[in-house]
Amino acid sequence: MTDPSTPVAADRAAGAAALGQSETPYLDALRAYADRDPGRFHVPGHKGGPGADPALVDAIGKRALALDIPALTPGIDVGPEPTPFQRAQELAAEAWGAGRTWFLINGASQGNHAAALTLAHLGEAIVVQRNAHSSTIDGVILSGLRPTFVAPEIDPELGIAHCLTPEALDAALRDTDGVVGATAVSPTYFGAVADVRGLAEVAHAHDVPLVVDEAWGAHLAFHERLPEHALSAGADLVISSTHKIVGSLTQSAMLHVAREPVGIDPEVVDRAVTLVESTSPSSLLLGSLDAQRRYIAVQGRELLEEAIEAMAAIRAAVREVRGLDVLDERLVGRRGVHDYDPLRLAIDVRGTGATGYQVAPMLRELGDINLELFGENVMVAVFGMGERVAAQGARLVEALRRAVDQLHAAGPREHEAFAPPPPWGELAMGPREAFLGPQEVVPAERAVGRVAAESLAAYPPGVPNVLPGERLTAETLDYVQRALEQGGSLRGASDRKLRTVRVVAE
Ligand SMILES: Cc1ncc(COP(=O)(O)O)c(C=O)c1O
Repeated sequence: MTDPSTPVAADRAAGAAALGQSETPYLDALRAYADRDPGRFHVPGHKGGPGADPALVDAIGKRALALDIPALTPGIDVGPEPTPFQRAQELAAEAWGAGRTWFLINGASQGNHAAALTLAHLGEAIVVQRNAHSSTIDGVILSGLRPTFVAPEIDPELGIAHCLTPEALDAALRDTDGVVGATAVSPTYFGAVADVRGLAEVAHAHDVPLVVDEAWGAHLAFHERLPEHALSAGADLVISSTHKIVGSLTQSAMLHVAREPVGIDPEVVDRAVTLVESTSPSSLLLGSLDAQRRYIAVQGRELLEEAIEAMAAIRAAVREVRGLDVLDERLVGRRGVHDYDPLRLAIDVRGTGATGYQVAPMLRELGDINLELFGENVMVAVFGMGERVAAQGARLVEALRRAVDQLHAAGPREHEAFAPPPPWGELAMGPREAFLGPQEVVPAERAVGRVAAESLAAYPPGVPNVLPGERLTAETLDYVQRALEQGGSLRGASDRKLRTVRVVAE
């Protein structure tokens, strides 16, 4: 939980007016531009609407098209400083307690790429949590960093990965010559929150910055009953997928650098962000970041209070359904679980005798319920901070009840003991070398024993089962194939059906 002595955003929200948190300077500038009906002798070619297909106008509305304005427009992001765009980023930095914040238009993925490119300015070697999101691995490939992978704690009962422990990080940092940084993920897809304070202390004791991929935790800064957020716990660079829980438009995200970061130069972050960014950032995405920043800074505490209460009731209702359980704060204290995010609903289906792969399609069929993630044992439903959490939860619980009734009506069933993900393969060469070096495409059955030249990441959750440079094993290839057969998709692979695999040439 948040240290009550540290200024959480709730306190900051009290002074929101003074800080201008109730303003949306960038969004306002976009609206003012659209309202004055300017001569649009610039891109995009739809010209604010007239050049758009009627189906597009109908789908997204005239106003969205009118606000779709290019970068470098005077009075919006160029002109007297601070420009509305600069002010919007400054307000975001204030709201999250950062030294500086960048708006991203290619998701938290762009944040992970930029973080790796930033660390590459410091040297060559980093410690990476092995189950990092695939975009972190892509960042390693882009930057040419030499990674030492460190395993997170795997829950022996649930078969899911929790977080990295400070002890494991310490050992990996000791083992890595010339290390210049470390990256960790918190919260996980399943809501487990890492001991970021402990991780930061360990990283700083080794004189290196800690990067935290807080893609799932953009809301944590705004309520004292939520786990402490990474910046407040001492992380130096934090990646935040603002679109996930806080609800800016899909693909928009933020990157925050701490007020007094260890080893991170904001100017270097700036050039790294620019390197992996379009020169035509979407004003709609950026405007949505400005708006949702205001929403959470000004109303977040109240909305989150409501959501936390509603989630507790939903969890209780799910647990009443025969055979279902939930992941919650009872996990806290297990290895790799320092705290738990109550806004996540992770449903343990083992007691029904069915797997998540079986239950999730039933929910779709019965109630048009579409989940964020489902696996053997656990299914994850995501709730946004501002939605009608209680009503949505009731809809989900009702569908769960009906699905479980159907399962019981079909007769008793034993939950098959499932195969946990196979151990990660040996890292035979660096990911960049493997990705860019001489390679060939071989049928999947002939890939066993070869070194992968690509990632294989069953999605969701998009955590690579295989990294470029790792030796392929029959168990891993079978596991990925099985995930595909169960309805998952494959990220990183050139053949998304895994009939062939790209391997390093011998
Ligand atoms: C831990 C983590 N990091 C990064 C990302 C990438 O986020 P985005 O989709 O915003 O690029 C995800 C996406 O699910 C994620 O789970």
